[in-house]
Amino acid sequence: MSDHKERILVVDDAPDAREVLRRNLTAEGYEVITAPGVAEAVEILDATSVDLVITDLKMPKVGGLDLIRHVRARFREVGIIMITGYGSIETAVAAIKEGAENYLPKPFTDAELLSAVRDALQKVRFQRAALSQEAAVPAHSFGLIGESAAMRRVYRAMAKAVSVSATVLVTGESGTGKELVARGIHYAGPRARAPFVPINCGGIPESLLESELFGHVKGAFTGATESRAGFFQIADGGTVFLDEISETSLAMQVKLLRVLQDGEIRMVGGTQQLNVDVRIIAATNKELLNLVRRQMFREDLYFRINVLNIDVPPLRERDDDVLLLAQHFVHKCSEELGRGAPPFSDGVLEMLRRYHWPGNVRELENVIHRLVVMSEGESVDIPDLPSVMRFSVPRGVGRLCSLAEVEAEHVRHVLASVGGNKTRAAEILGIDRKTLRERMKRYLPPDEAQD
Ligand SMILES: Nc1ncnc2c1ncn2[C@@H]1O[C@H](COP(=O)(O)OP(=O)(O)OP(=O)(O)O)[C@@H](O)[C@H]1O
Ligand SMILES: [Mg+2]
Repeated sequence: MSDHKERILVVDDAPDAREVLRRNLTAEGYEVITAPGVAEAVEILDATSVDLVITDLKMPKVGGLDLIRHVRARFREVGIIMITGYGSIETAVAAIKEGAENYLPKPFTDAELLSAVRDALQKVRFQRAALSQEAAVPAHSFGLIGESAAMRRVYRAMAKAVSVSATVLVTGESGTGKELVARGIHYAGPRARAPFVPINCGGIPESLLESELFGHVKGAFTGATESRAGFFQIADGGTVFLDEISETSLAMQVKLLRVLQDGEIRMVGGTQQLNVDVRIIAATNKELLNLVRRQMFREDLYFRINVLNIDVPPLRERDDDVLLLAQHFVHKCSEELGRGAPPFSDGVLEMLRRYHWPGNVRELENVIHRLVVMSEGESVDIPDLPSVMRFSVPRGVGRLCSLAEVEAEHVRHVLASVGGNKTRAAEILGIDRKTLRERMKRYLPPDEAQD
């Protein structure tokens, strides 16, 4: 039994009946409020929280069934017992159908009343527990880890995307999990049995992209000795994931627009239009609208793609999800290495929480991987953390420093977040590899600046 008194609202037009119920239930330790009719009951329900409603069926003006309907529509977790004067099956069935937990045919004994009340209140408690769990963990997190409010918004948006076939634009910083979101939508929906085909638009040379996407017919170009299907044909019935959509040329954008508008593709060198049934999910870590303004991205394509937008929040905005994710990666890595998970000191956990994770989940995954490998099963403490974390300014704390310091710090962050991949780091920093090498020599200790 919970420590607060459970509150029961008794609704009956007969004062004697109300009084009998009030006395009996109060004697059992319940708090009882009474109302002579449905209108009064509705007012009380609005003003006070009630655990259980016991209502008579036949009352002048508005009957008990209407009250049941009202309670069910407005207060999902309130229990209901219907008292019927006739004991007829039909009224009982109607009451249960409307959502009453139980019904008591008149006349009933005190014991019958109390037993029905206990049963109904127990159901209420179960229901409440279930509802609060529902609130704590969303019904569906699509295999993604995270319980923060920011991630719950993502899950809700994903659920919406699953139920329709519209094009989705997934935005977010590098390493936030955009591809995972796209996969989650695909595998939770009706297209799950057909392929999910990821295409890195920035990674395929422009000259090949069209034939990779749409296929080519035999003889379309030198070397095309066979007809070959493209990603769009392969994905028929499923999903094409256009990653780094901002990296497509304007010419390519026109072709993508055609697919989106007409659901038709043409193989390179082919004359026929082919129908394909694909859902497109695109992703970018750029501000596409900025590119539209600078005429580097077609406005019409932007609006075609951005039917549903899911913005994946940076890790630093996900509260303690960072700890959940860290735990997940520790176990994953330890399992892969076939050893026990090393314990992390409180100091390390605090650093994980405070660090601002410019490379987001991917950076966290890299850091944890390194820590688990290095730990050799021993506990992990602050000196084990990469210097970029130990010496970084905690998020939210501003420190006055020189531009060079900011640059040095940023170069280190980006490198750490992409696991030392210089091509990727140079890309993110918007500089060429040669400049990056120079900066690394200038800012990093000699052993880390090695090429
Ligand atoms: N919520 C999450 N739960 C578990 N793993 C995650 C989550 N988010 C991201 N990851 C993992 O982090 C890594 C990066 O995720 P993903 O590749 O989806 O990011 P991205 O946003 O597409 O990155 P980029 O912009 O660099 O392409 C992957 O290994 C992915 O499995
Ligand atoms: Mg990606």
